[in-house]
Amino acid sequence: MAHLEIKGGRALKGTIRISGAKNAALPILSATLLSEGRFKLRQVPELEDVRILIELLRELGVSVQYREQGTVFVDSSKLESFEAPYDLVRRMRASVLVLGPLVARLGKARVSLPGGCAIGARPIDFHLKGLELMGAKLEIREGFVEARANRLEGARIYFDIPSVTGTENLMMAASLAKGNTVIENAAREPEVVALGRLLQDMGAKIKGLGTDTIKIEGTKTLRPATCTIIPDRIEAGTYLMAVGAAGGELIIENCVPEHLEAVILKLKAAGLKIKVIDADKIKVKRRRRLCSVDVKTQPYPGFPTDLQAQIMVLMSTAGKLSVITETIFENRFMHVAELKRLGADIKVEGRSAIVRGVKHLNGAPVMATDLRASASLVLAGLGAKGTTIVQGLHHLDRGYERMDEKLSAVGARIKRVNGTPVQEGKMS
Ligand code: EPU
Repeated sequence: MAHLEIKGGRALKGTIRISGAKNAALPILSATLLSEGRFKLRQVPELEDVRILIELLRELGVSVQYREQGTVFVDSSKLESFEAPYDLVRRMRASVLVLGPLVARLGKARVSLPGGCAIGARPIDFHLKGLELMGAKLEIREGFVEARANRLEGARIYFDIPSVTGTENLMMAASLAKGNTVIENAAREPEVVALGRLLQDMGAKIKGLGTDTIKIEGTKTLRPATCTIIPDRIEAGTYLMAVGAAGGELIIENCVPEHLEAVILKLKAAGLKIKVIDADKIKVKRRRRLCSVDVKTQPYPGFPTDLQAQIMVLMSTAGKLSVITETIFENRFMHVAELKRLGADIKVEGRSAIVRGVKHLNGAPVMATDLRASASLVLAGLGAKGTTIVQGLHHLDRGYERMDEKLSAVGARIKRVNGTPVQEGKMS
């Protein structure tokens, strides 16, 4: 099994270019199911999650062709299957994003239920209730949700909690439904807006993108379109924090500073020097030891849960005491046990982690438990004294494009090593 070997203590210097956003690419690829014809998608990141979704599209009969530099052509004119098998949905829960488009276009879908997840139960009841309100008949059979509808009809839908993929699934379904749909308490994430823009380019009539009330006037057919996937704000935030962990100075290019407002304000409060130097460039510098700040994860535009593990690394060597509260997922503190192996002083109480800054972390072997946790362990390794070995790289590769290469190009001593790491000797 491959692992990362990181020798900490080297300040970063240079420029890192941000890739297309995984969480925008997944719904946008799913939206190609809504219309016949050839789509051209640019800046599609080469990631394991994207590969799984493409594998699923191909199983459904969709033609997907990769071209150089992240350009992908997709054509679902020959859509022949309506089933998303367990094996693919199990590997990536966002596969459930094909449910809305399949029912809307074919009038039927059979999609495996995703089951639990390392970071929380993550049910999909909002997706299902929304489709039912739009007239779909749903049955759960043998671990699959089976949905049928002659033609979906517009409906008023209210989410108890704003759900990102829930909003996306229903927005796609509503675009081909008969009549008007209103989604109240909808998610406002930039990835939802990016999907909405593509749907508008396909001919859908959508209002209120980026607000909590989205109105969709359904249409009978949609047309293919071209789109560039927006830059990944979570990847950008992770590299801003890499400077917080390792020190030095970086320029983060091809990012949207506006998407990172809460993150930038929090990092500035912690003492990082951050300046937006261009419409798509941010300069970040660490001059001194960071100070402790409290963090609470929230739906966008709040501080993202997908950066909670990474900021915890910064707080683990910051001046005083920090309280980090996770409000989105109930089990997203699995990185805590691993950070403690590096010497961090963290206590979890319910939904909060109390982090007391220590002088420095010490390298050790650690195991990644989920995607963002694995990024946090890499950051911890960059800042720690000695060598950190990060195992469980399949998590990292799901959502970060060539992270080790990008970091080593800016001076980090990080390398991907094939094979099982050599075990340290036992104490005699
Ligand atoms: N929820 C329900 N019922 C539902 C849907 C959601 O109770 O039917 C709850 C969830 O359990 C959670 C909250 O609502 O407590 C919000 O979950 P949401 O549905 O927004 O999460 P998601 O759509 O499954 C997306 C991202 C996640 C990101 C979250 C929150 C994609 C493909 N995934 O997940 O990204 O953490 O929104 O921002 O867009 C990641 O990239 O590492 C990742 C986990």
